[in-house]
Amino acid sequence: MNENIKIFLIGFMGSGKTAYGKPLAELLNTVFFDMDHYIEKKYCSSIAKIFTEEGEKKFRLYERETLCEITEGNRSFVLATGGGTPCHYNNISYMNMHGTSVYLKCTVDELYENILRSNPERPLLQGKHGNELHEYIKSLLSAREHIYNKAKIILTGENHNPQKIFEIIANAMQSG
Ligand code: S3P
Repeated sequence: MNENIKIFLIGFMGSGKTAYGKPLAELLNTVFFDMDHYIEKKYCSSIAKIFTEEGEKKFRLYERETLCEITEGNRSFVLATGGGTPCHYNNISYMNMHGTSVYLKCTVDELYENILRSNPERPLLQGKHGNELHEYIKSLLSAREHIYNKAKIILTGENHNPQKIFEIIANAMQSG
Protein backbone atom coordinates (compact mmCIF):
# COMPACT_ATOMS: atom_id res chain seq x y z
CA MET A 1 0.00 0.00 0.00
CA ASN A 2 0.95 3.64 -0.55
CA GLU A 3 3.75 4.76 1.80
CA ASN A 4 2.10 8.03 2.65
CA ILE A 5 -1.09 6.93 4.33
CA LYS A 6 -2.62 8.86 7.21
CA ILE A 7 -5.75 7.25 8.58
CA PHE A 8 -7.82 9.06 11.23
CA LEU A 9 -10.36 6.82 12.92
CA ILE A 10 -13.19 8.89 14.32
CA GLY A 11 -16.37 8.08 16.19
CA PHE A 12 -18.15 8.21 19.49
CA MET A 13 -16.72 6.76 22.71
CA GLY A 14 -17.09 3.00 22.54
CA SER A 15 -17.16 2.78 18.75
CA GLY A 16 -14.01 0.62 18.62
CA LYS A 17 -11.45 3.14 17.35
CA THR A 18 -8.61 1.68 19.41
CA ALA A 19 -9.71 -1.95 19.13
CA TYR A 20 -9.85 -1.83 15.31
CA GLY A 21 -7.06 0.70 14.87
CA LYS A 22 -4.27 -1.53 16.15
CA PRO A 23 -4.88 -4.50 13.82
CA LEU A 24 -5.68 -2.12 10.96
CA ALA A 25 -2.26 -0.48 11.36
CA GLU A 26 -0.68 -3.94 11.18
CA LEU A 27 -2.54 -4.75 7.99
CA LEU A 28 -1.43 -1.43 6.51
CA ASN A 29 2.08 -2.08 7.74
CA THR A 30 2.24 1.23 9.55
CA VAL A 31 2.35 2.62 13.09
CA PHE A 32 -0.62 2.99 15.40
CA PHE A 33 -1.31 5.91 17.72
CA ASP A 34 -4.05 6.28 20.28
CA MET A 35 -4.78 9.95 20.95
CA ASP A 36 -5.72 9.61 24.63
CA HIS A 37 -2.76 7.39 25.37
CA TYR A 38 -0.41 9.79 23.56
CA ILE A 39 -1.77 12.77 25.53
CA GLU A 40 -1.40 10.92 28.84
CA LYS A 41 2.25 10.19 28.09
CA LYS A 42 3.01 13.61 26.65
CA TYR A 43 1.48 15.59 29.53
CA CYS A 44 2.36 13.02 32.23
CA SER A 45 -1.21 12.84 33.47
CA SER A 46 -4.42 10.90 32.95
CA ILE A 47 -7.33 12.10 30.81
CA ALA A 48 -9.54 12.12 33.91
CA LYS A 49 -7.00 14.24 35.80
CA ILE A 50 -6.58 16.70 32.93
CA PHE A 51 -10.37 17.19 32.84
CA THR A 52 -10.67 17.77 36.59
CA GLU A 53 -7.50 19.76 37.17
CA GLU A 54 -7.20 21.77 33.96
CA GLY A 55 -10.68 21.61 32.45
CA GLU A 56 -12.13 20.37 29.18
CA LYS A 57 -11.08 23.50 27.26
CA LYS A 58 -7.43 22.82 27.98
CA PHE A 59 -7.89 19.15 27.09
CA ARG A 60 -9.28 20.17 23.69
CA LEU A 61 -6.20 22.30 23.12
CA TYR A 62 -3.95 19.37 24.03
CA GLU A 63 -5.91 17.24 21.56
CA ARG A 64 -5.41 19.79 18.79
CA GLU A 65 -1.68 20.07 19.49
CA THR A 66 -1.34 16.30 19.55
CA LEU A 67 -3.29 15.88 16.32
CA CYS A 68 -0.93 18.32 14.54
CA GLU A 69 2.16 16.77 16.12
CA ILE A 70 1.29 13.24 15.03
CA THR A 71 0.13 14.34 11.57
CA GLU A 72 3.15 16.50 10.82
CA GLY A 73 5.68 14.18 12.45
CA ASN A 74 4.76 10.97 10.61
CA ARG A 75 4.37 10.18 6.94
CA SER A 76 2.12 7.25 7.60
CA PHE A 77 -0.01 6.06 10.54
CA VAL A 78 -3.38 4.98 11.88
CA LEU A 79 -4.60 7.33 14.61
CA ALA A 80 -7.50 6.44 16.90
CA THR A 81 -8.76 9.91 17.83
CA GLY A 82 -10.80 10.73 20.94
CA GLY A 83 -14.58 10.79 20.55
CA GLY A 84 -14.63 14.59 20.70
CA THR A 85 -11.53 15.29 18.61
CA PRO A 86 -13.27 16.02 15.27
CA CYS A 87 -15.73 18.38 16.98
CA HIS A 88 -13.26 21.02 18.16
CA TYR A 89 -10.89 23.46 16.41
CA ASN A 90 -12.37 22.32 13.10
CA ASN A 91 -10.19 19.23 13.45
CA ILE A 92 -12.36 17.30 11.02
CA SER A 93 -11.31 19.65 8.18
CA TYR A 94 -7.69 19.38 9.27
CA MET A 95 -7.91 15.58 9.12
CA ASN A 96 -9.63 15.63 5.73
CA MET A 97 -6.97 17.95 4.40
CA HIS A 98 -4.09 15.77 5.56
CA GLY A 99 -5.37 12.24 5.14
CA THR A 100 -8.35 9.90 5.22
CA SER A 101 -10.91 10.15 8.01
CA VAL A 102 -12.89 7.00 8.71
CA TYR A 103 -16.06 7.19 10.82
CA LEU A 104 -16.95 4.05 12.76
CA LYS A 105 -20.67 4.65 12.89
CA CYS A 106 -22.64 2.83 15.62
CA THR A 107 -26.18 2.97 16.90
CA VAL A 108 -26.92 4.38 20.36
CA ASP A 109 -27.65 0.86 21.63
CA GLU A 110 -24.35 -0.49 20.31
CA LEU A 111 -22.44 2.38 21.91
CA TYR A 112 -24.26 1.91 25.20
CA GLU A 113 -23.40 -1.81 25.29
CA ASN A 114 -19.76 -1.21 24.31
CA ILE A 115 -19.34 1.55 26.88
CA LEU A 116 -20.71 -0.68 29.64
CA ARG A 117 -18.11 -3.30 28.71
CA SER A 118 -15.16 -0.89 28.43
CA ASN A 119 -13.22 1.82 30.26
CA PRO A 120 -15.47 3.34 32.95
CA GLU A 121 -13.00 6.19 33.56
CA ARG A 122 -14.16 8.47 30.77
CA PRO A 123 -14.72 11.88 32.36
CA LEU A 124 -17.81 12.81 30.31
CA LEU A 125 -19.56 9.64 31.44
CA GLN A 126 -18.73 9.81 35.13
CA GLY A 127 -21.70 9.21 37.40
CA LYS A 128 -24.07 8.32 34.57
CA HIS A 129 -25.75 4.93 34.58
CA GLY A 130 -28.66 3.06 33.03
CA ASN A 131 -31.25 5.22 31.34
CA GLU A 132 -29.42 8.44 32.12
CA LEU A 133 -26.30 7.11 30.38
CA HIS A 134 -28.32 5.92 27.39
CA GLU A 135 -30.00 9.33 27.04
CA TYR A 136 -26.68 11.15 27.37
CA ILE A 137 -25.13 9.05 24.59
CA LYS A 138 -28.17 9.70 22.42
CA SER A 139 -28.09 13.47 22.84
CA LEU A 140 -24.30 13.88 22.54
CA LEU A 141 -24.24 11.63 19.46
CA SER A 142 -26.99 13.63 17.80
CA ALA A 143 -25.08 16.86 18.53
CA ARG A 144 -21.90 15.43 17.04
CA GLU A 145 -23.11 13.28 14.19
CA HIS A 146 -23.18 16.04 11.55
CA ILE A 147 -19.45 16.45 12.16
CA TYR A 148 -18.69 12.72 12.16
CA ASN A 149 -20.60 12.52 8.89
CA LYS A 150 -18.00 14.76 7.23
CA ALA A 151 -15.60 11.80 7.30
CA LYS A 152 -14.32 10.66 3.91
CA ILE A 153 -15.34 7.07 4.67
CA ILE A 154 -18.34 6.11 6.81
CA LEU A 155 -18.55 2.53 8.02
CA THR A 156 -21.60 0.98 9.66
CA GLY A 157 -21.54 -1.99 12.02
CA GLU A 158 -21.37 -4.82 9.50
CA ASN A 159 -18.06 -3.37 8.24
CA HIS A 160 -16.49 -3.02 11.66
CA ASN A 161 -13.65 -5.49 11.42
CA PRO A 162 -10.04 -4.71 10.60
CA GLN A 163 -9.86 -6.76 7.36
CA LYS A 164 -13.03 -5.17 5.96
CA ILE A 165 -11.89 -1.67 6.97
CA PHE A 166 -8.54 -2.36 5.29
CA GLU A 167 -10.22 -3.44 2.05
CA ILE A 168 -12.57 -0.45 1.98
CA ILE A 169 -9.70 1.98 2.59
CA ALA A 170 -7.59 0.28 -0.10
CA ASN A 171 -10.46 0.51 -2.61
CA ALA A 172 -11.16 4.14 -1.75
CA MET A 173 -7.52 5.02 -2.23
CA GLN A 174 -7.27 3.24 -5.56
CA SER A 175 -10.29 5.08 -6.90
CA GLY A 176 -8.62 8.37 -5.89
C1 S3P B 1 -14.07 12.04 24.77
C2 S3P B 1 -13.69 10.75 24.41
C3 S3P B 1 -12.59 10.04 25.05
C4 S3P B 1 -11.57 11.03 25.61
C5 S3P B 1 -12.22 12.03 26.51
C6 S3P B 1 -13.31 12.82 25.79
C7 S3P B 1 -15.20 12.68 24.07
O1 S3P B 1 -11.94 9.20 24.09
O2 S3P B 1 -10.86 11.67 24.60
O3 S3P B 1 -12.74 11.34 27.60
O4 S3P B 1 -15.33 13.92 24.13
O5 S3P B 1 -16.00 11.95 23.44
P1 S3P B 1 -12.55 7.80 23.55
O6 S3P B 1 -13.47 8.12 22.43
O7 S3P B 1 -11.34 7.06 23.08
O8 S3P B 1 -13.21 7.15 24.69
